[in-house]
Amino acid sequence: MARVFLTREMPGRAVEILQAAGHQAVVWPDELPPPQVELAAELAQSHAALTTVVDRITPAMLDGAPDLRIVANMAVGYDNISPAEAAERGIWVTNTPGVLAETTADMAWALLMSAARRVTESDRHTRAGGWRTWSPTGFLGMDVFGATLGIIGLGEIGEAMARRAVGFKMRVLYHSRTRKPALEADLGLEQVGLDELLAVSDYVSLHCPLTPETRGLLGAREFGLMKKRAILVNTARGQVIDQDALVSALRDGTMGGAALDVTDPEPLPLAHPLFSFENVVITPHIASGSMATRSKMADMAAENIVAVLAGKEPINPVNRGHR
Ligand code: NAP
Ligand code: GLV
Repeated sequence: MARVFLTREMPGRAVEILQAAGHQAVVWPDELPPPQVELAAELAQSHAALTTVVDRITPAMLDGAPDLRIVANMAVGYDNISPAEAAERGIWVTNTPGVLAETTADMAWALLMSAARRVTESDRHTRAGGWRTWSPTGFLGMDVFGATLGIIGLGEIGEAMARRAVGFKMRVLYHSRTRKPALEADLGLEQVGLDELLAVSDYVSLHCPLTPETRGLLGAREFGLMKKRAILVNTARGQVIDQDALVSALRDGTMGGAALDVTDPEPLPLAHPLFSFENVVITPHIASGSMATRSKMADMAAENIVAVLAGKEPINPVNRGHR
């Protein structure tokens, strides 16, 4: 019987899937993730781990886990572990691509709309008793219909975002590593350089992974290129943005607002200056968070573990190329 450590209670059938395959599922019982020392101790006794984006798996932890064969991340992003370091030690890393794209794009769209139409800001105002009359100038926002959306990272979620924008008759620009002629033809997308995308878009939405190339992709220079009323949406990773530069741009009024599901660090301390702006929406990294999608993600991670423990290749490996 193999020991599988799950770093949190999971929605869906993950435990059932693991037990049905004859494995022992050991679930970390707290709402908060295991501290690094506890995580290392659990990995040291396990054959497999089902992890989340907040579980930082270090090379030293992998060295201390002689029986570990797979780290199955319940996420599409896997910047919490080095796939190459894991592969060097013969350990598979897997993720959960595809199943969360529509749900995450729904949330990115909700954030975009919230910032454009000042939804959370006016809700706060209403709850505080500020609604005194209908006002011709009250809470005027930005139109979304017919505006220009710039997508950075045209993968599964970026494409799902573009399909939503088509329904709003938006002009959709994208900047990605690879050109996507089929999507350009199907959805009328236009590939442009990053600077042009930033200069022309009314809304900029980030959908690239966090990698050495994308860390700090948007900083002071890039924010300076954006339209004065443009809104930035980030459901990718907080570190793709230079957050201090974002604070300065918002303070100087060189951009219209930001809607962030991801920050650096997470959680963002309450004293952080980003919380002081009325034109900033912040949610606690919940973009894939529908019951159905999170269940699919956890089930998928469990299926990857079952495959590897049965001596097969995993279904969603991210480090095959490193092996
Ligand atoms: P994906 O399908 O792999 O798409 C990522 C896209 O980014 C790919 O199309 C990729 O390149 C492009 N890209 C990579 N490096 C780039 C660079 N340097 N510059 C521009 N584009 C680059 O992944 P996904 O499923 O859409 O997810 C994207 C990211 O969203 C994840 O990695 C994760 O960090 C984040 N995420 C967050 C949440 C949340 O809860 N907030 C939920 C899900 C995902 P190509 O052009 O070569 O295809
Ligand atoms: C969530 O952040 C994910 O990468 O799936």
